[in-house]
Amino acid sequence: MSKLFTSQKIKHLEIKNRIVLPPIVCFSFAGESGFVAEKNIKHYEALAKGGSGLIIVEATCVNPNGRLSEGQLGIWDDRYIERLSKLAQVCHKHNAKVILQIHHAGLKTPKAVSGDTISSSDYHDGKLSARAMSRDELHVIQRDFIEAALRAWKAGFDGIELHGAHGYLMTQFFSSKINKRTDEYGGNLENRLRFTTEITQGIRQKVNEDFIVGIRMGCNESDLKTSIEMAKRFEAIGIDYLHVSTGFDNIPITEEVPEAFPCNWIVYGAVKIKEQVTIPVIAVNGIKTSQQAQYLIENNLVDFVAIGRAQLADYNFVNHIKEENAVVRCLACKPCKWFINGDYCPRHI
Ligand SMILES: Cc1cc2nc3c(=O)[nH]c(=O)nc-3n(C[C@H](O)[C@H](O)[C@H](O)COP(=O)(O)O)c2cc1C
Repeated sequence: MSKLFTSQKIKHLEIKNRIVLPPIVCFSFAGESGFVAEKNIKHYEALAKGGSGLIIVEATCVNPNGRLSEGQLGIWDDRYIERLSKLAQVCHKHNAKVILQIHHAGLKTPKAVSGDTISSSDYHDGKLSARAMSRDELHVIQRDFIEAALRAWKAGFDGIELHGAHGYLMTQFFSSKINKRTDEYGGNLENRLRFTTEITQGIRQKVNEDFIVGIRMGCNESDLKTSIEMAKRFEAIGIDYLHVSTGFDNIPITEEVPEAFPCNWIVYGAVKIKEQVTIPVIAVNGIKTSQQAQYLIENNLVDFVAIGRAQLADYNFVNHIKEENAVVRCLACKPCKWFINGDYCPRHI
């Protein structure tokens, strides 16, 4: 059997295979005020049934003023726990483990959601603008993340993933381009990581030892060397896994990807980070075939592969590649129709 279908642990959590569903927001599926709707439950049940060992549920916002859209799932109040627990249950029912990604968009929050956008520092670039949080405000948002994790635990999730990638609030602290603070939350790398470090420590004090705390991070924050240093520090503060994507910017790393390497620079960045840490590393981005996935796992280049759009196009993608059956290929629409409405995906019409 391919090593892709062997189990692997994240701390004590045994995951039946090496394939992960990465977080993918479905703004059009959620109920009013960001409550989990029946449509979300059916969607995750179908994906869990499709065979991934680990499902990472989409970016779920810790504060209503940090949402990307009014249709984003929320977790800022205990009232969200009951519906969120249904997502955890349907994934467990199909023998998948399930982690909830928790998120705040910071300066990327649209003005239609909040007229008072916050970030690590003042920021104005024409399209986006935000004001720097005071230290007190920053502590409130840290508490929002910690309470969100506690709610995810109460809802029956196996863990949470901090969204420390794609330009959102955590990256606005990591990035020296954005973070111009002169207090202990800005300046050197240790200070720029402090916002997230304290959140991680706060979560650890509240939840059971077995509860997984992972992070999605960039391999280009702002270069691979700094990202490797960040990865080592995350491991040192007790982060359980690293899910490597892009950071504040989408600018490629300068390291050359070898010609024989069958994936892109983001996956290559994950491989380079894996060489420097002992906690599990998940690679993601553009992995669409079992050959690519097998190359990464068979050669021990990473511990898990996350496969997103290919699983959206074919909910049974994992079972299909396991049984060596044909898959329904993602048509790679630009932009992906799921950003607007999953029902518009040409594979679901
Ligand atoms: C419609 C859509 C929604 C996404 N939502 C999230 C999200 O909630 N959180 C996140 O970290 N990444 C999000 N992503 C990025 C994916 O997790 C993944 O990194 C990206 O799709 C690349 O992987 P793939 O080539 O396997 O699809 C989203 C991507 C798409 C296409």
